[in-house]
Amino acid sequence: MRAKTAGSWARYERSQRSLAGGVSSGLRRSARPYPLFYERGAGSRIWDVDGNEYLDFGLAWGPLILGHAPASVTAAIVEQAGKGLTFGAQHELEYLVAEKLTAIVPCADLVAFSNAGTDVVNVALRLARAVTGRPKYLKFEGHYHGWGDQALVSYRFGVEHPVGVAGPVGKGQLPHDHVLVAEWNDRAAVEELFGTHGAEISMVACEPLLANSGCIPAEPGFLEFLREITTRYGTLLLFDEVITGFRVALDGGQGRYGVTPDLATYAKAVGAGTPLSVLAGKREYMDAISRGEVVHAGTLNGNPLALAAAGAALEELSEPGFYERIHGLGNRLRAGLEGLLRAKGHAVVTTGDGPVFQVAFQETAPRNYRETMAADKGKYSDFAIGLLNEGILVLPDGRWYISGAHTVADIDATLAAAGRAL
Ligand SMILES: Cc1ncc(COP(=O)(O)O)c(C=O)c1O
Repeated sequence: MRAKTAGSWARYERSQRSLAGGVSSGLRRSARPYPLFYERGAGSRIWDVDGNEYLDFGLAWGPLILGHAPASVTAAIVEQAGKGLTFGAQHELEYLVAEKLTAIVPCADLVAFSNAGTDVVNVALRLARAVTGRPKYLKFEGHYHGWGDQALVSYRFGVEHPVGVAGPVGKGQLPHDHVLVAEWNDRAAVEELFGTHGAEISMVACEPLLANSGCIPAEPGFLEFLREITTRYGTLLLFDEVITGFRVALDGGQGRYGVTPDLATYAKAVGAGTPLSVLAGKREYMDAISRGEVVHAGTLNGNPLALAAAGAALEELSEPGFYERIHGLGNRLRAGLEGLLRAKGHAVVTTGDGPVFQVAFQETAPRNYRETMAADKGKYSDFAIGLLNEGILVLPDGRWYISGAHTVADIDATLAAAGRAL
């Protein structure tokens, strides 16, 4: 790969001289052989600066639900750009997109716009503290809720870290004594935490499908259990749908899994590749923002370019059959990869839901983050670089995304390439 990507290496070296770490988001540094530089994308494909073409299953870590540069979305952005990039004031697209979202998302009586998932998780945490008057919140190990001080807790850690003990991910984070953590799918631990701290817990936050650590579904009844216990204790329930939102279904995890939270956060797919995030929630809570009691601010919030993109994307995502199609493609690819790898004698499991799934070299499907540690990550990394060499781009952590631009022919070409990569 190094010989084929010499142009990327030269640019990466240059970039590191002026850009901290040579990348714009820390996680990108883990790419092998080194972070590649891309020139353009179209549909399911992306081209690097050395002219190599890849079928893209990373999709910019999820946002590109319609693939690269979808025509309707780019046209809407170009049209809006001609009228103004941002106003820092009200415009029609705000309520037009808000009306679409409140019609689609079960928990959304009201929405608020920001630019990144991290922003809206932070507002959700603040809102929950404000409306309950309680200081703490409960999250699950391995769930990622952005890189804010309060959210970036118990996400990546080693097997030696004690169960249920909250820990920051990096240096310089504020103390996290307000964060309670449990293992995903562990009802008894949640019951116990509520038994001890119930009167102090403002919110329970989770990804309704643990996409960030192994694409691990909630076990049957677990989301219903979270709904029940939070209601019992007067605690808010947040579904962080930054990945599941507009991906596993038009109405996201809450629609697909049939449990309605009090608040939900969206980013990635909702903007189809533009910086848009959404906090959605029940009126009784969101009204604290309406009244100005809880501060939600941001110079570029509700910016017209992102909302033009979202408006166009939501039209396409709402077309009948869209989600059936991407689920079908995801299932075909997942089953094909699993069959191929097992036939070659590899212990492999795949987990997830249709257009977002995980491939891991381990014996049994994990039910929480700790169980994902049994996977052979080095082997996956070698597989990923083998795929790259065959023109298939995947994320380094084992998660695969499908877009509406992928085709059956793309999936079959990928399976053939995977056979060669092995
Ligand atoms: C579930 C979840 N929540 C929050 C975030 C943070 O979103 P952003 O990277 O847009 O700040 C992410 C990002 O990957 C995510 O996957």
